[in-house]
Amino acid sequence: MSMAIINTFGNVGVYYIVLLLSWFLVSGVCVWGRPATFLQDFEITWSETHIRQIDQGRAIQLILDQNSGCGFASKSKYMFGRVSMKIKLIPGDSAGTVTAFYMNSDTDTVRDELDFEFLGNRSGQPYTVQTNIYAHGKGDREQRVNLWFDPSADFHTYTIMWNHHHIVFYVDDFPIRVYKNSEGKGIPYPTMQAMGVYSTLWEADNWATRGGLEKIDWSKAPFYAYYKDFDIEGCPVPGPANCASNQSNWWEGAAYQALNAIEARRYRWVRLNHIIYDYCQDKSRFSVTPPECLAGI
Ligand SMILES: *[C@@H]1O[C@H](CO)[C@@H](O)[C@H](O)[C@H]1NC(C)=O
Ligand SMILES: *[C@@H]1O[C@H](CO)[C@@H](O)[C@H](O)[C@H]1NC(C)=O
Repeated sequence: MSMAIINTFGNVGVYYIVLLLSWFLVSGVCVWGRPATFLQDFEITWSETHIRQIDQGRAIQLILDQNSGCGFASKSKYMFGRVSMKIKLIPGDSAGTVTAFYMNSDTDTVRDELDFEFLGNRSGQPYTVQTNIYAHGKGDREQRVNLWFDPSADFHTYTIMWNHHHIVFYVDDFPIRVYKNSEGKGIPYPTMQAMGVYSTLWEADNWATRGGLEKIDWSKAPFYAYYKDFDIEGCPVPGPANCASNQSNWWEGAAYQALNAIEARRYRWVRLNHIIYDYCQDKSRFSVTPPECLAGI
């Protein structure tokens, strides 16, 4: 076996292994700490029978069939931080299904929530990613982007970054949405409540695909989505005092207070080429443009 590896990769392989080993030594426990296994940070909240752990809990399979969808949630809530996971969405005809990955304060009256929702489509047609932001109980801030790749062909990384300066939704290394903290201008921003991390897979064929026109084809069930590389970096609440206000947390650092030049270029590219709905432009829905849209968010 090892002979075969050396034969195939030769010196390059050995060099690579040495490089990897020194990286592990230098970075110590951190390498092993993140990403975490599913059960380190999460628990199943809906239908145990529809979530399977695979690869010793480093990945999971979510199942949607006619009996049930499923869901999971983080054991803790967090005050600011960055949450990411790799997701491989339902392949083929996924019309009418919704896979969601979001943060939520779980406080109904004054809900804060940051949503990624992946809306399935008929075979060969692009998946839509809907994002929404609730701040101090008010949502209605939907945007939709059509993905530039097939998200069911492979794993891609979906990230929510939330700090005192802005909220950024990333697809791989591409920001697809930025919501700046403009509290100074009286625009609501989530700063008061911790949020948990959630994910669900369910049927929503009354609205998800072409406004509900496309129904789930149950003859294609069960539907499977896969998740791995669970990574939550944030201040758990309750947790160490001062954690959430600590300006030295890495996600509050200068590099994370605004998009860098490369990110800004990618964000412009997404906005120009892939946005298909923006509530800020929806005059039929809002006779008065929402203030955050005018504030250059
Ligand atoms: C599905 O594909 C159609 C055709 O390309 C597109 O118009 C639509 O936005 C896609 N997404 C959803 C959720 O319907
Ligand atoms: C603030 O965060 C930094 C970096 O994460 C850490 O080294 C430091 O101990 C923290 N300080 C407090 C008061 O929590």
